[in-house]
Amino acid sequence: MVIKMTDEYRMEAEVFLAGVREKMEWVSEKNRDKIPYTTDENGNYDDRSDNGKNWNPDDGLNWWTNGFWGGIMWLLYQDTGEEKYAEIARSSERKMEKCFADYYGLHHDVGFMFLPTAVMDYRLTKDADARRIAMHAANLLAGRFNPAGRFIRAWNEVDNSDTRGWAIIDSMFNISLLYWASEECGDPRFRQIAMMHADTLRKNFIRPDGSVCHIVEFDPETGEMVRSHGGQGYAEGSSWTRGQGWALYGFANSYAHTGKQEYLDTAKQVAHYCIANIPENGIIPIDFRQPKEPALEDSCGACVIAGGLLEVAGHVPELEKDLYIRSAWKILKAIAQTRADWSKDCDAIVQNCSGAYHDKRHHFTMTYADYFFVEALYKLTGTGLLVW
Ligand code: GLY
Repeated sequence: MVIKMTDEYRMEAEVFLAGVREKMEWVSEKNRDKIPYTTDENGNYDDRSDNGKNWNPDDGLNWWTNGFWGGIMWLLYQDTGEEKYAEIARSSERKMEKCFADYYGLHHDVGFMFLPTAVMDYRLTKDADARRIAMHAANLLAGRFNPAGRFIRAWNEVDNSDTRGWAIIDSMFNISLLYWASEECGDPRFRQIAMMHADTLRKNFIRPDGSVCHIVEFDPETGEMVRSHGGQGYAEGSSWTRGQGWALYGFANSYAHTGKQEYLDTAKQVAHYCIANIPENGIIPIDFRQPKEPALEDSCGACVIAGGLLEVAGHVPELEKDLYIRSAWKILKAIAQTRADWSKDCDAIVQNCSGAYHDKRHHFTMTYADYFFVEALYKLTGTGLLVW
């Protein structure tokens, strides 16, 4: 949603966007044939599009973040009108389509993969192949629905463990693909599945204080809730920051597509929990309930939370907007001024991202951090595209 901003935010965001345009001009040229995820020790992007031999089936071309490179390109295209951005985005989308031939690597993240690529392409160009690819992905996602528990199953097998009854909060973003499919073809089934899933997550993932758990396990036969898991956060009962962002932004998106008031109420509840926990310096930890030391950060979670706060701001009355915009700006300014690399030393902009609290590696770059950072700046300038 495009929000009306005061000139103050718009002008400051414009300064950072000028840096984004300058940087993406050469980054896009240098990496035009790749689908990057992260940078190496020399600041060069990797390439997930080669389906390299050493990946497991979820990696390579199927890697869940592969849509964000195309998404950045489409955002730059709508801003600059430069054809090369559309060409790079389209090329990554067509490579990713090959995933459909290898069923085993596909997962609940087809929304993350194909909303910023095929759906965005179709919305902008009305390309018939982009529509076909996006509809194919929506059908695969709908097929993961468990009618007994009324949830969309996450992942496939994880380390041989039984995940048939697992649902995760990240999926609140993937279901926008289902809303799009119903809006596009007029068949309500996709939206019905999305709303049943959102209702289940609302009931089982959101705690009374507005914090959110990452994974909930249901009995796959009866649909009964079994337990929650800490997932990528610090521990069970903790509050993985990127997951808070997926929830707050995801429920705001569900409200935008359906007008169901409970979804906006939930987004605001999670937003208020996040706002109360933003540290003074605006730097977001991996988990709001992690120990003080080591001071592990996740700039990616920061950008998702900021984007969610701006989305909520777009749906509340004028008098309420300022709290959400001011809080988002605090986070984005901290990233732009202290966690961004604007130089030619690194292909990525946003630094200090983390996948999960207990991973061995922390504080690296991720294309989806750059995506959500750039998307939020466009939201702040009152431009941008409907993606989710
Ligand atoms: N959707 C997985 C993650 O946020 O890392």
